Amino acid sequence: MIRVAIDGPAGVGKSSTSKALARHFGYAYLDTGAMYRACAWWCLKQGIDLDAEEIDERQVTETVGEFFTGDHFDISVDPDDPRVSADGEDISEAIRSSEVSTHVSKVSGIIPVRRVLIAAQRAYIAREDQPESFSGGLGVVAEGRDITTVVAPDAEVRVLLTAREEVRQARRNGQSADTAGVGGEDVAARDRADSQVTSFLTAADGVTTLDNSDLTFEQTLTALITLVEDAV
Ligand code: C5P
Repeated sequence: MIRVAIDGPAGVGKSSTSKALARHFGYAYLDTGAMYRACAWWCLKQGIDLDAEEIDERQVTETVGEFFTGDHFDISVDPDDPRVSADGEDISEAIRSSEVSTHVSKVSGIIPVRRVLIAAQRAYIAREDQPESFSGGLGVVAEGRDITTVVAPDAEVRVLLTAREEVRQARRNGQSADTAGVGGEDVAARDRADSQVTSFLTAADGVTTLDNSDLTFEQTLTALITLVEDAV
């Protein structure tokens, strides 16, 4: 069982490369950001005011707890079809909306919420709570902000994927680096908020930093494959 932990800031290409890496080795793929996004989506749907000056953290925590324990949430860890659903409704697209992106840090910044999600993520990674959709796989690729440090600090492969801010903003905007900052969401603002609670801007001890600012997708993937092969 090989566990590959990949952390990094917004817009670095974690999801696409992690998914491709999982596919390459036939591993499961866990997008922990999708779990936090699903929580924010659920809280907004329940009418919780995430714009309030003082967010009701207890209400958010209870709502998130009920989302998981009440069996509303489901995630597929099949890298060919990584879907997220709530009460059977496919919310994989909805959780990528700008409304969710701008509110997600408010939810992920609440420590008791993190406790609930970290426990669920550890269970998925240990394959204890294996979603039905994907039974194969000799390993798992889990990506997020605190996988190398908190969720799976004992993972066989630990990588911090980074890129220069203007490159990440441009990737997120789907535009050239010249027009970075125009349109799209502000990745730097989300990173600033996220880095208050998780440490993903510098690599922890034993974590390999991979700066892909000047690498193509294929080159990034090749570098990750090599790191996994070296560990197997
Ligand atoms: O990776 P993605 O950009 O989809 O993550 C969405 C949000 O989920 C992040 O901005 C962060 O607030 C939260 N997150 C987190 N810890 C993780 C993964 C994501 O706090 N391990």
